[in-house]
Amino acid sequence: MDTNRLSKSIEDILNKQVTKEANAAQIYLSYAVWADSEGYAGVANLFFRHSGEERNHMMKVIEYIQERGGRAKISALAAPPKDPKNLQECFEKTFQHEVDNTTAIYEIVNLAQKEKDWATWNFGQWFVKEQIEEETLIMDLLDKLKIAGGPKASSESLLYLDSKIGKQEDDADLARDASVDNP
Ligand code: FEO
Repeated sequence: MDTNRLSKSIEDILNKQVTKEANAAQIYLSYAVWADSEGYAGVANLFFRHSGEERNHMMKVIEYIQERGGRAKISALAAPPKDPKNLQECFEKTFQHEVDNTTAIYEIVNLAQKEKDWATWNFGQWFVKEQIEEETLIMDLLDKLKIAGGPKASSESLLYLDSKIGKQEDDADLARDASVDNP
């Protein structure tokens, strides 16, 4: 008896996402090592932790494919990107990466909707929310760097920024949780 409730196209797109999340973990890992080498211990700490989050995302998709009777595929990973030139480029590239990943998640939920695969659509909603958080988290880093002076930030302001980033929460505040008392 065939217990696979995933269509071939859904199983394929989910397996693509498994590789994407694993590649994302590698990107954060390589940027964390770069940041640490440049002396940004706080940024390195946040990115090392975030690399683990990306592996968790990968795990969720693997588990989901298996849970639905499909077969998860473990593929080769791409080489990580070149080291960024500076913190500004590091955050900009990370932000673009997250926006691209959001597009990939939207492709999954779009296909699930088209095929009326409501289990996958429902599963995908967790990732839709997660991507709002991830984009917000990195956008906040860009905002903080802008306040510190952007490309012209002094060593003192970068040192202060780095120590703040190292201690910040892994999750960003979202608009849906705002109120008049707590904007
Ligand atoms: Fe798994 Fe940063 O998205």
